[in-house]
Amino acid sequence: MTSPFWGAAGQEREVRLVEPATAIRGAIAVPGDKSISHRAVLVGAICEGETLITGFGRSADTESTVAAVRALGAEVVEEAPDVLRVRGAGLRGLREPDGPIDCGNAGTLARLLAGILAGQPWRRFELAGDESLSKRPMGRVAEPLQQMGAGVETAGGRLPMGIEGRPLRGIVYELPVASAQVKSCVLLAGLYADGRTTVVEPVATRDHTERMLRAAGARLRREADRVTVWPAERLQLERVDVPGDFSSAAPFVLAATLLPGSELIVSGVGLNPTRIGFLHVLERMGARISAFNRRTVAGEPVADLEVTHAELVATEVGPTEVPQLVDELPLFALAAAMAHGNSRVRGAQELREKESDRIKSVTISLRPLGVRIAGAPDGFRVRGVPTRPKGGGMGSEGDHRIAMLGAVAGLVSREGVRIEGDEAVAVSFPGFFDLLESVAHR
Ligand code: S3P
Repeated sequence: MTSPFWGAAGQEREVRLVEPATAIRGAIAVPGDKSISHRAVLVGAICEGETLITGFGRSADTESTVAAVRALGAEVVEEAPDVLRVRGAGLRGLREPDGPIDCGNAGTLARLLAGILAGQPWRRFELAGDESLSKRPMGRVAEPLQQMGAGVETAGGRLPMGIEGRPLRGIVYELPVASAQVKSCVLLAGLYADGRTTVVEPVATRDHTERMLRAAGARLRREADRVTVWPAERLQLERVDVPGDFSSAAPFVLAATLLPGSELIVSGVGLNPTRIGFLHVLERMGARISAFNRRTVAGEPVADLEVTHAELVATEVGPTEVPQLVDELPLFALAAAMAHGNSRVRGAQELREKESDRIKSVTISLRPLGVRIAGAPDGFRVRGVPTRPKGGGMGSEGDHRIAMLGAVAGLVSREGVRIEGDEAVAVSFPGFFDLLESVAHR
């Protein structure tokens, strides 16, 4: 239910009330994976010929990517909301657009595209973004691209970022932060280098870029903590069938786990091992989740998930596990809030660099709902109470993952949760609330 209200500044804002549910029941599918959808469009844009993308996860973020590659001269034909044909411009065929490329809220777009643009010799590009993206660190991609020989300028390490493509040299680059976006940026630039490029990642991060580049004909080798890419002559990617987004399935999985009498099936969910830390953590806490119909789609492991209610016990999440559930840590806070015992997240300072400072936004949004949570420089601690939290009002902080957290909190609360700024979900999952209501029993 959405109702307008007058915010403190006098402007009309929407508030959504998510009422308590007794159980989550039904069978659903979630939209295509956001990380893979971005990559399919970006890689398709530098391929020869046509790439057919099915199951495309359409959202504000991925629309930004479609608009970006169009501005750069790739053709994108939308055959259905989730079916795209990308006619690539080839590895070196992207053209200078008339003005800055608007990356909207999408960090993945800004950082991956930077790697591609760095390899378009002597052409100049400018990347810009919305208010939230303009606060996020871009020095982490500017630095390795400069080492490779590209001309990159940022506004004090933030957007707008100017890029002049130049002939690139291969480097060995050790990631200072565990980031799949930075790894992907360097690997994409490596396609254009004069020799091989190696990225060393002390902690494994999602490997969708590696899988997709291999499918497109690039040569890559993974060895222990490093991945090497060789320069490419041409890429070709006929088809990408995008699996359901594990991060979009996660709020449903959590709600079904927390509510007695729940029985939920989520079909066609991507279960890439670098993405499913939340599943492992929930299982460690006692959750009942089974995966069946396991298959491989577009080089990615996929399965259907069945979730029933379970009582949870507290756990700790440490630094090596963090990248595998980085986007699900807000949901982990709620799981921990209803578990027996005290839980903790450490080594997650990267949460401060997301669409909002998620250590701050998780704590300030959950506390008024009755959750006992305290932030730390690199994570948070939660005192579990295995009953429903009271509920109340919270704000999304303009962050889609915080809005979805509020929705699950509403379902499992005693009095419901009013979410201010619920429209933020459109960044990754525009149909989120409708799908949630379709399985919520009251
Ligand atoms: C993403 C990587 C992660 C994640 C983001 C999507 C990607 O960011 O938080 O939502 O598609 O590569 P970092 O790699 O910066 O941690």
